[in-house]
Amino acid sequence: SEERRQDYISFYQQAVDFYAKNLWSSKGEKAREYLFSRGLNEETIKKFRMGYSSDPREIGEYLHSRGFSYAQMVKWGLLGSYEHRDRFAGRILFPIYDREGYPIAFGGRIFGTTEGVKYLNSPETPWFKKSDVLYGFFHAKDTLVKEKKAILVEGYMDVLSLHQAGITSAVAPLGTALTEAHLQLLQRYVDKVILLFDGDSAGLQAASRSLDILIETNMESGVVILPQNMDPDEMILEKGKDAFLQFLEHEIQSPLQFKWMYIREYQLKEQPLNKHLEEMFQFLSKISQPVAQHEAIVSLAALVNLNPNILYEDFRRYLQKRK
Ligand code: CTP
Ligand code: MN
Ligand code: MN
Ligand code: MN
Ligand code: MN
Repeated sequence: SEERRQDYISFYQQAVDFYAKNLWSSKGEKAREYLFSRGLNEETIKKFRMGYSSDPREIGEYLHSRGFSYAQMVKWGLLGSYEHRDRFAGRILFPIYDREGYPIAFGGRIFGTTEGVKYLNSPETPWFKKSDVLYGFFHAKDTLVKEKKAILVEGYMDVLSLHQAGITSAVAPLGTALTEAHLQLLQRYVDKVILLFDGDSAGLQAASRSLDILIETNMESGVVILPQNMDPDEMILEKGKDAFLQFLEHEIQSPLQFKWMYIREYQLKEQPLNKHLEEMFQFLSKISQPVAQHEAIVSLAALVNLNPNILYEDFRRYLQKRK
């Protein structure tokens, strides 16, 4: 219900404030040092209202004094059911905002230890569905409207580093695959999505899967593969904004180019050409407009050096066979 949603948001707002105050207090010194060592500045940390949980009990006690029951706090994902400990104790907090800028969840990163998972996210609640939310969306929205283009990255730190460098069109899924709901949200504001994933096999696979659903929309897309074992955060810290943007411009691949490379060099590496083509056909069959589908086949023919008419016949035969 609407009233409960307001309680929920008020709850998260107070938690965000509490953690942020903690980060900027003497208790937060180590956490601040960590964030500065990652290249984030005070302005960025404050803009995204990052926080720190220094103690497993404080947040629960504080919010209980503000009228929230422990059962409620467990249900809304802040406390564990066991001893009502803060699930994010010891972690740096990345508040997750809805599209209107209200906090609805947290991502929490460990630092200074290798024990425990690197990132912990709030569990889903009636008002927080991972598959609907893009990290950074609220802060990117004005730029998305202006530039009509979104840059999709994998992680929290990628979003923050890009925004800090002035590339404010960066957004990220919450450690999950890109979904149709994410694309529906973006589609209201942009007509192009650039996939900028980590330069590792997980990043390549994520790019390939993302294209499978992107191609069904009428948004344009492009893929940039970063050098081995680099992510956008590391790259922009190393190169700076201008060289980073030049790299993007130089390295961007069409969905077709990327898929063809991915199928041949990764997905079906040891397989013959006809298998590669069939996989491509399956990909291109998701394009809804026949004209665009035909154009894609012609481009593919150029890419693989085959006669476009013959390839188009092959494609039509493939579609027939599938029925
Ligand atoms: N992720 C997660 N749980 C993990 C690891 C990753 O939910 N144990 C999600 C986070 O949203 C993370 C994203 O996947 O931001 C990308 O993961 P990764 O590339 O490993 O992390 P980075 O974002 O690069 O984080 P950092 O630079 O702090 O290591
Ligand atoms: Mn009570
Ligand atoms: Mn990675
Ligand atoms: Mn990283
Ligand atoms: Mn990464």
